[in-house]
Amino acid sequence: MNTSSREFVNVNLDDRSYPIIIGEGIIKEASQLIDPLQLGKKKIIVTDQNLASTHLVSLREALKNGGHDTAEIILKSGEQTKSISEFSLLINSILELGIDRETCLIALGGGVVGDIAGFAASTVLRGINLIQIPTSLVAQVDSSVGGKTAINTPQGKNLVGTFYQPRLVIADIKSLKTLPIRELLSGYAEIVKYGLLGDVIFFEWLEEHGPKIISGNPVAQAKAVATSCRSKASIVKKDEREAGERALLNLGHTFGHAFEIETGFSEKLIHGEAVSIGMAMAFDLSVRLGLCPKEDANRVKGHLKKIGLPISLKSIQGIDWNSDRLISHMARDKKVRDGNITFILANGIGKAFICENVQMADVKAIINKDLNA
Ligand code: GLY
Repeated sequence: MNTSSREFVNVNLDDRSYPIIIGEGIIKEASQLIDPLQLGKKKIIVTDQNLASTHLVSLREALKNGGHDTAEIILKSGEQTKSISEFSLLINSILELGIDRETCLIALGGGVVGDIAGFAASTVLRGINLIQIPTSLVAQVDSSVGGKTAINTPQGKNLVGTFYQPRLVIADIKSLKTLPIRELLSGYAEIVKYGLLGDVIFFEWLEEHGPKIISGNPVAQAKAVATSCRSKASIVKKDEREAGERALLNLGHTFGHAFEIETGFSEKLIHGEAVSIGMAMAFDLSVRLGLCPKEDANRVKGHLKKIGLPISLKSIQGIDWNSDRLISHMARDKKVRDGNITFILANGIGKAFICENVQMADVKAIINKDLNA
């Protein structure tokens, strides 16, 4: 087995602990990586149409060569797949394959596949084994780790789901090679988030090495994915079900989610772009409230902008932004508790904290300042 530039992260959750293995080309080694878990012979790969002729081929071959009994379910690509009707089709397909409790479901893909397949694994037979093989940068550094699974309903995004930890995560850096640059940048915003929320040294490292991550340097990418996963793992270990500290992972997301609602979760503004603008605003809001030095907010915005991420709503074309409407989206967010919207603010880079008593007038002022700049 080639172990060059391989990184290992452990998610420590007692009897639900699991490793994250990060490396280049490791989908080809799937069988050797999975075998030590001693799971049942049957492996059901759930993936989407975009990956059927690429990563699925490598995974199928690796598992067949390792003597696994494989079946495949190919979903339609895109966020619409995370619906109740597609979920119903998925669990029917899984059950028709004649599974038992030892069966292992492998989610091969980005956040959509990971979320819906994870939800299916957590519900069929009250839970079968799950392995995540995330192929997008967002999925590698965030959604495949920590056990959140979900589908969307007409009432909103990710409103139905479970906390269900995988047995293993295999993050193959090689799969990032085929990602469009916009998708790579979207994942990069989530990577920056880990520096901002608790690790100034990592943020400094990103200031120097971030461009290498975007230009496809596998060593820099593996280090960034591993550092992000390590940071997420340490938060999830302390607060698996988001009763407190896990909310830190929502830095930039209260703003960002409202922007995504306004743009209809469309290509006009993809997730990481919304998070990038949201993080810029979270830092501006922290400065306005006298909590954070202005130089830190400028440094955050400077880095996001330099790498190619948006930091202002005005850079998103074709949307008639309105601060009142954005605030009303925030008020319906699932992060609202007893009518209070939770914001993640910061005392500086690497010093984020949870704040539940932000006045909406201040939030509105920050949005209007951006819109009128
Ligand atoms: N994506 C945020 C979390 O996993 O908690």
